[in-house]
Amino acid sequence: MVTEAYPPVRIVAAVQEDERFYWEVNNDEGVRAQSLRPEPIPFESHQAWFRARVGEHTSRLYVVYCGEDRCGVSRLDASDVAGQMWISLAIDRAFRGRGLASTIITLTAACASALGASMVRAHVRPTNVASARAFARAGFNEVLHTKVNEIDVDEWVLVTAR
Ligand SMILES: CC(C)(COP(=O)(O)OP(=O)(O)OC[C@H]1O[C@@H](n2cnc3c(N)ncnc32)[C@H](O)[C@@H]1OP(=O)(O)O)[C@@H](O)C(=O)NCCC(=O)NCCS
Repeated sequence: MVTEAYPPVRIVAAVQEDERFYWEVNNDEGVRAQSLRPEPIPFESHQAWFRARVGEHTSRLYVVYCGEDRCGVSRLDASDVAGQMWISLAIDRAFRGRGLASTIITLTAACASALGASMVRAHVRPTNVASARAFARAGFNEVLHTKVNEIDVDEWVLVTAR
């Protein structure tokens, strides 16, 4: 998947060589602070998590490229509800604030649709203004406020065209 933005932004399925990059982006302090599991991620547990998923036909871990640079990661997780998937993303600190987030969300949501999802859902902390604005710009609607792991979150939803 690729956009017409300059430099072009594309997402590709993560490969084994992305293991450390994926961890570095996700283990960033600012990313952990916005996560539903804010504690730091030990590299060893990341390795087990990553290796169980990467390279599988069903892998839904993506690396985001901005031109030739890896600039972030995104992920799709199965929902308990058939036809629905959860989306999440994190952008490398050096690439934040460039307006990339909504494009990454759109590209990742398109992958969910291609995998058969008719609804893509996201949890966003109410204080995460950049994320909320990016999901809104990508066409998501905020549908409810709830708690996950005792953390206040808003749920954002996109109904994808099939
Ligand atoms: C959330 C995240 C993906 C957003 O990416 P970004 O590069 O920072 O944001 P963008 O430059 O794409 O901007 C997205 C929108 O937020 C706004 N924005 C960016 N930074 C902002 C800030 N600090 N405060 C308020 N608004 C902000 C932008 O103006 C833009 O709004 P617009 O489309 O209405 O103009 C990124 O900050 C990140 O990886 N954060 C840590 C992980 C995370 O929170 N992931 C999402 C969990 S659901």
